[in-house]
Amino acid sequence: MQLRVLLTEDQIRTRIKELGAQIDADYPAGNLHLVCILKGAYVFLADLARAIKRDTFVEFMGISSYGKGKTSSGEVKVTKDLDHSVEGANVLIVEDIVDSGVTLSYLVQVLRQRKPHSVRIAALLDKPERRLRPVEVAYVGFKIPDEFVVGYGLDYGEKYRNLRDVCVLEEGEAA
Ligand code: PRP
Repeated sequence: MQLRVLLTEDQIRTRIKELGAQIDADYPAGNLHLVCILKGAYVFLADLARAIKRDTFVEFMGISSYGKGKTSSGEVKVTKDLDHSVEGANVLIVEDIVDSGVTLSYLVQVLRQRKPHSVRIAALLDKPERRLRPVEVAYVGFKIPDEFVVGYGLDYGEKYRNLRDVCVLEEGEAA
């Protein structure tokens, strides 16, 4: 396996600043309820939350859809639920990547049942070619081709989450 840099730390930082400004401009004054989807989105959440100037309330939710391999099993399971109600809240789901859309279409449905004022999605990466379920992503960091990516929170078998860049994981000799 070898790594090829797709998005550098600098590109990611610049784009997240823009997303933060856009989010601040779009929402009315008041608290924004950020729901970080574990595990992959934890790095994006840390940077996005600091790029947003308004008050935020941060929560974590665990959803599992991939298992340990590279392809989605299509199964979605809540592994950790929210600790607080989102009733009446402006909820912004923070995700690292939208791939088939299976995870997010399920999650949006689950959260809508809890009567928030609004639910939107912010995803650092979007692979539109892979979509199986329609998902409206209000804030997309980067649209990327259908390649397997790791780093900046994303893993392969739990490895590579701590890379600063987003890299394509390619078959081949070790880098
Ligand atoms: C990834 C990613 C999304 C989901 C997207 O999570 O963080 O939650 O898959 O795929 P989909 O659009 O095809 O549903 P993963 O299950 O790999 O868990 P992790 O974030 O804990 O690594």
